[in-house]
Amino acid sequence: MTLTMGDSISPFLFMDKNKLPQHVAIIMDGNGRWASARGLGRTQGHMEGVKRIQEIIKTAHDIGIKFLTIYAFSTENWKRPSDEVSMIMRTFIAVLGQKAKDLGRNGIRINFIGRRTGVPDEVLKAIDQAVHLTMNNSSMTLNIAFNYGARAEIIDAVKSIVSLAREDKLNADSIDEQLISSHLYTRGQPDPDLLIRTSGEERISNFLLWQLSYAELYFTDKCWPDFTESEFHKALDNYTQRERRWGTIRVPG
Ligand code: IPE
Ligand code: IPE
Ligand code: MG
Repeated sequence: MTLTMGDSISPFLFMDKNKLPQHVAIIMDGNGRWASARGLGRTQGHMEGVKRIQEIIKTAHDIGIKFLTIYAFSTENWKRPSDEVSMIMRTFIAVLGQKAKDLGRNGIRINFIGRRTGVPDEVLKAIDQAVHLTMNNSSMTLNIAFNYGARAEIIDAVKSIVSLAREDKLNADSIDEQLISSHLYTRGQPDPDLLIRTSGEERISNFLLWQLSYAELYFTDKCWPDFTESEFHKALDNYTQRERRWGTIRVPG
């Protein structure tokens, strides 16, 4: 077999490293379809998906991405069959228990974004331990969106702003973009520069509605268990070639 240039050379070698995103958000979709295309159960799709999560976290960290936000379980995912939901909860507890130390050793800070209400106690315990174990790290923040919904997040932000107003700590005139951002689960973090969604679906599915206002969107047909390091490199390479305008006009040259 002859090896062509395209087979062996990663786009990572050529991409403009100065243009890499600071914050990448990922909707990891397609575990179920990946499994059923292979005659496997959905559980196996989720298990294979977990392996890709670990690889993509490592790649993002090694490249120097400062914030990585992954959508692990949405406020809508409770509508799935109860055996799938409990399988996801069990896997989540097990993986966090096994991997939080490793991530911590690599300087990664684990942060959870989502509503605690409704999450089983054992899951909350695993979350709190992982957060505590990695709280002093700063090389990359890994936001795990769990029981996350952007509308729930905005509702929670409005509630906390209203309670400050009730205590006379702010008035309507002081409500601006910065104030709202500072009441979201991602407070203190830059908005995502790049959103990746796998599996061919091209929708936001209640993810980071406020924060994605000016993100570049990248959709791939690959299901999440097929989203390897080289697929991630392709997405990053594509991002480095985008021109972000922020409402202004194109800068010539
Ligand atoms: C994403 O894969 C994982 C979660 C939402 C937890 P899916 O489970 O949504 O896979 P598809 O979309 O059914 O293929
Ligand atoms: C979005 O995927 C949620 C996660 C990846 C956790 P879904 O598979 O739940 O989204 P829809 O239902 O296809 O919009
Ligand atoms: Mg899906």
